[in-house]
Amino acid sequence: MNNLTFAIIKPDAVKNGYSGLIIDRIIKNDFKILGMKFMRMTKAQAEGFYEIHKDKPFYDELTSFMSSGWCIVIALNKPDAVNEWRNLIGATNPAEASEGTIRKDFASSLGENAVHGADSDENARREVGFFFSEAQIISNH
Ligand code: CMP
Repeated sequence: MNNLTFAIIKPDAVKNGYSGLIIDRIIKNDFKILGMKFMRMTKAQAEGFYEIHKDKPFYDELTSFMSSGWCIVIALNKPDAVNEWRNLIGATNPAEASEGTIRKDFASSLGENAVHGADSDENARREVGFFFSEAQIISNH
């Protein structure tokens, strides 16, 4: 169990005006925000970030969407952070997400599903490192 995870508020959620509501849920659920950046990914950055999906049929659609607009990348701290964040956001497909989860409330489709969450401690560390330098992360986590 680790205490670090990585989240993205995706372009659909930013465009729809849900950023503040999602950040409010992060805070109310006792996550500590170690780093947060408003940014627009290039296609190449999105491709690098989602490299593990490069052989999937939806890779081009996914990376085009993720580079289509502004997003917010966030490093989060909480005991058992990866699982806690995954529970809060709900299933990848919003149609299957439980009541009260972020994807149930703010996502519209499998591709445009409002938020991302790292799926393991190892990927959380890689993903935080992809967007943040050591100096940009509050160090006392
Ligand atoms: P995310 O948690 O960001 O990790 C990979 C993303 O791929 C996932 O959320 C979905 O948004 C997206 N994804 C997964 N399956 C599909 C699919 N069949 N078609 C389009 N996008 C998908």
